[in-house]
Order: sequence, then C-alpha cells, then structure tokens
Amino acid sequence: MSELYNNQVPFELKIKSMDENAQGGALEKSRPFGVASNGKKYYIESYGCAMNFADSEVVASILANSGYDSTKDYNEADLIFVNTCSIREKAEQTVRNRLQGFKVVKKRNKAALIGVLGCMAERLKDKFLEEEQLVDLVVGPDAYRSLPNLIEEAVSGQKAVNVLLSRDETYADISPVRLSSNGVSAFVSITRGCDNMCSFCVVPHTRGRERSRPPESIIQEVRNLYEQGYKEVTLLGQNVDSYRWSEDEKIRGKKLIDLKDTDLVFNFSNLLEEVAKVAPDLRVRFSTSHPKDMHDDVLHVIAKYKNICNYIHLPVQSGNTEVLARMNRTYDREWYLDRIAAINRIIPNCGISSDIITGFCGETEEQHQDTLSLMREVKYDMSYMFFYSERPGTLAAKKYADDIPLEIKKRRLAEVIELQNELSLISNQADIGTVVEVLVEKPSKKSEADLCGRNDRNKMVIFPKGNLRIGQYVKVKITDCTTAVLLGEVVE
Ligand code: 5AD
Ligand code: SF4
Repeated sequence: MSELYNNQVPFELKIKSMDENAQGGALEKSRPFGVASNGKKYYIESYGCAMNFADSEVVASILANSGYDSTKDYNEADLIFVNTCSIREKAEQTVRNRLQGFKVVKKRNKAALIGVLGCMAERLKDKFLEEEQLVDLVVGPDAYRSLPNLIEEAVSGQKAVNVLLSRDETYADISPVRLSSNGVSAFVSITRGCDNMCSFCVVPHTRGRERSRPPESIIQEVRNLYEQGYKEVTLLGQNVDSYRWSEDEKIRGKKLIDLKDTDLVFNFSNLLEEVAKVAPDLRVRFSTSHPKDMHDDVLHVIAKYKNICNYIHLPVQSGNTEVLARMNRTYDREWYLDRIAAINRIIPNCGISSDIITGFCGETEEQHQDTLSLMREVKYDMSYMFFYSERPGTLAAKKYADDIPLEIKKRRLAEVIELQNELSLISNQADIGTVVEVLVEKPSKKSEADLCGRNDRNKMVIFPKGNLRIGQYVKVKITDCTTAVLLGEVVE
C-alpha cells in the first residue's frame, strides 16, 4: 500500500503521517431530500490514512439515508463514531486515549452510544468491548451497511459487533457525504483491501482481500463531483496500480466509458485516462503506487494528460535488497531504481515521494546506509518516515525477531529525517524564481493574510490572499521556501 496518508495525499493529504491527526465533524445537513429525520445526531472522527477519511464519508451517507443528522459537536451527539487506524502501535494508542476523553459524554448522557469503526475494530473484534468498557459498537471496514441495524441492537442493550470482511464490497453505489470538505478537493476510492502481504503491514489483515470498484461508478462519482464544482479528485487505493476490471464486468461500464472491445482487462492506466477525460480543468491525483506494479503504461498516461498531476508517491520502505526481501515487498533495489529512472524519462520534472521504515527486523548499519544512499540517488521531494513498529498477526511478527533496540530505530529515523529535510530544501530551492500553477485550497494555517494550495508536483505553496477565491487556479512566482513549503506572489 502504502497507507494513503492524508498526505498531500498522499495527500496529506499524505503530507505528514496522519495517524496522530484527527479530523472530526460533519456537514450539518447531510440527509438526502425525502429522508425524514429520526431526531438523532451522530458525530464522526477519523484517524489514519486517506482511505479512512473516505470511508467516514461512506458511513455518513449510510447514516444520513437512515435519518440521522450530523453534528460537529460531540457533546450534543447521540452517536459518537471513531474511525480508527492500526498501522502502528502509536496510532492505536492515540485512539484509546481519545476514547477515554469521551467518558465525560457518557457521564452526561447515559444513552449516548460510542462506536469504533475501521482497522482497530477489525483487528480487535469483540475483545474491544472488554478492553474499552465504554464502547457500544464495533464495526469493521466492510460492514458499514449494517450500521443502522447495529445501532438498533446497541440501543436495545445488546453487544453490536460486525467485523465480517467481504470479497466484493466496494460501496460502489453509495454516494459519499463530503465531510469537512473545502468543496475543491475530494477522495474517490477505486479499490479496497490489499493482497500484497508486506510482512510489516497489518492492512491486509484489517481491510481484507483486494477488490476493484466498477469503472462506471468511479467515473460517475467523478462527474458528479465536477458538476458540483470540485476541481481536484484523488483516486485512492492501497495499491492503485493493481486496479483491475475484467471483460465480463466491463460490459456494464460501456454506457459511460468508451472502451475498446479488444481490451481484455481494464487496468489502472485505462481508468486514469478515463478520469482525466472527464474535464480538462479537473486535476487528477492518485495514491498509492506500488513499485512492483507501476509499469510504463501508467507513466505514459500521466505524461499525456496535462490535468493528471506530475506527482507519484512510490514508497520504497528500505534501500537494501535483503531487507526488502524480508519485508516481502517483491522488488529489489535495482528494480525500484529502474522505476524511478522510468519516471524521470517519461515524465520530466515529476514530483516523487516515499514511505521509509527504519529499524526493520535484522536491519544492519550497512543496510540502513543503503536506505540513505538510495534517498540521495532518488532525491525525493518528500517522504513519510517511520521506525518499525511490530504489529500482532503480521508475517514479520510471526517470522522475525523485532531485534533492533528502540534507541537505534529512532537514531536511524532521525538520520533519515535529517537527510530528507536536506533533500526537500534542495528541491524547494530549485523552484525559486519559477512560476507554478496552484489550485487555491484553503487559508494558510500560519497567517490570515495568506492562502495556500498545491502545485502540480504536490508541493504546498503559500501566497497573499488578495482577491483570490478558493477553487481558483493561479500562477504563483516562487520567491522563497522552507523545507516544507514554497512561498510566492501571484503573477496572474
Ligand atoms: N511499522 C512502521 N511503519 C509501518 N508502515 C506500515 N506498517 C508499519 C509498521 N508496522 C508504514 C509504511 C507504509 C506507511 C503507510 O506506513 O511505510 O507505507
Ligand atoms: Fe501497502 Fe504493503 Fe500494507 Fe498493502 S501490505 S497496504 S502494499 S504496505
């Protein structure tokens, strides 16, 4: 995968790892026309990857269709949901602390229900009800359609748990309610689950087998977003490059998509192209790419369409071939560097970012140096960097000793972060004096007089507000930078 961190999305959306960050709240009026209110309000908070944020929008839609209203204030909620992340131990601890915080709500309103959704629900199942006494519902990522029934069960005092994983659930027919949206940028899931079984990763265990969503439902959702005024979509999947829709099912998509009859399989490059064709002024991003599956066809599509952003999040995890084998990443250092060369050849000036883990089982000092040398060679614009955190049930937990002492994991992580900061600064300094196109996204966090938005390469750019509107494209001349952002002035 890479867990799609709400990376600059990798959006943050993956900008920095999101597991410590939460986004709460919901639109005040999300019930569809014709659905009567049942008088109850829900509050939802999301942790972890972009996929979790997208899932919360599906949950909001299911609840709205059952008559629930949303609220941004958990103090007035009848139902509090926490959509959780299990990727590292720290992410789980953050959620447990947050749940403790909700104790006060229960004290005040005994009838309020607390539901745990997502990866922690899946991992811990009904053990969660014993471990966290105040939790009333536990619902895994493939069981959200059963939420209205589970809520009724919980109201009647029963234990409400559904953590069944599915081989075909994609929520394709559910129109997500855009939570806390800026009305400019939206996530669209294209696959669910993961079949890759990287040995360190809990995701295949919590999100189940990989399945692709029908292309017609994806294109329809993108068209709807565009008609509502959205200017950017980010296609989401744990591994977007393994998106696959077969001949039989493709027939159903013909109404909306002009497919060649000779195509045996509709793959990610085909999908990306169809999404790019929805509108030339709709920016298209995607996350996450997998080095073993990212072939040149996808790169050629990116190069062909101006509205597909020149930015690829291609997690390497380690720069050493033996460590990569223990991680079960199914590529080696040379293969990864060949994919980077292909990006640079086919898409000149493409932004590239990575996920890196330090201190994986058995990692020697030399192997750690290989990660640093690969980073220097690739010259990443940005990376999400973590020290290894053993996750129960994973291949690595079963097969290898978690034998690198915490101080060493952290020291290696500090070295990786320091190097990435240097590389990011060099990359940003190279942009000074250039003019970049930016989609205005939101007010800058640091100054009320400024706005911010990302350029094609996914770099965050900050510039004076002037008379600009959110959702507008502007040309900005870069005048300065930090390791994290570009600063500039609007020239057009
Ligand atoms: N420990 C540390 N980092 C992890 N990741 C996934 N599992 C673990 C783990 N057990 C990182 C990987 C992945 C990103 C989303 O999180 O780098 O790409
Ligand atoms: Fe990503 Fe690998 Fe985890 Fe799948 S198993 S989500 S590819 S890190």
